[in-house]
Amino acid sequence: MLNIAIFASGGGSNAEAIINHLKNHEYLSVRLIVSNRKNAGVLNRAKKHGIETLVIDREEFYKNKDFTIKLATAQIELIVLAGFLWLIPPFLVEAFPKKIINIHPALLPKYGGKGMYGYHVHQAVFDNKEKESGPTVHYVNEVYDEGNIILQARCQLLPTDQPEDIAAKVLRLEHQIYPVAVEIVGRFIREGKKNY
Ligand code: GAR
Repeated sequence: MLNIAIFASGGGSNAEAIINHLKNHEYLSVRLIVSNRKNAGVLNRAKKHGIETLVIDREEFYKNKDFTIKLATAQIELIVLAGFLWLIPPFLVEAFPKKIINIHPALLPKYGGKGMYGYHVHQAVFDNKEKESGPTVHYVNEVYDEGNIILQARCQLLPTDQPEDIAAKVLRLEHQIYPVAVEIVGRFIREGKKNY
């Protein structure tokens, strides 16, 4: 099995979409859910599916050794960020080359970078009267939202759409494309290909 760790800070609807999609998968398995918030909704979803959880604090996360050992012990080969709001430290990017992916709720390279997460993104899209939006799945490097793009999906926005309507439209697309992207990247890692 190729073991996946999902890192999430919030409700975890993307995490659950991925878990459901990969249930009984031939060679991909969601092995671990990591969260930086002990009350994050994603932890309840993980328990419901019988998946091991790990709550980390900032010091542990940014201190190389212990956390990397935990990931190694769980034999993690792919890290999937699903609403995880801490910047990934360089040692982790180096330890998992092209093996960390993220979903962002806008059409990168627009509306990315520090401070651009969740509702802030949809508010900015609304303020700029954009006619379309949609999620982006991308590789993770040391800079927020700047790794190579793997997959995007688009939806039309209506002039009457409020930020919460935009968020709902984009989230629906996230649930469709992220599980597929995880499967594609998982297959590439399994087959030993360097890139997607
Ligand atoms: C998702 O919309 C995801 O794109 C966003 O957080 C939400 C998590 O929802 N991520 C970012 O904004 C990262 N910059 P979920 O917890 O229900 O999956």
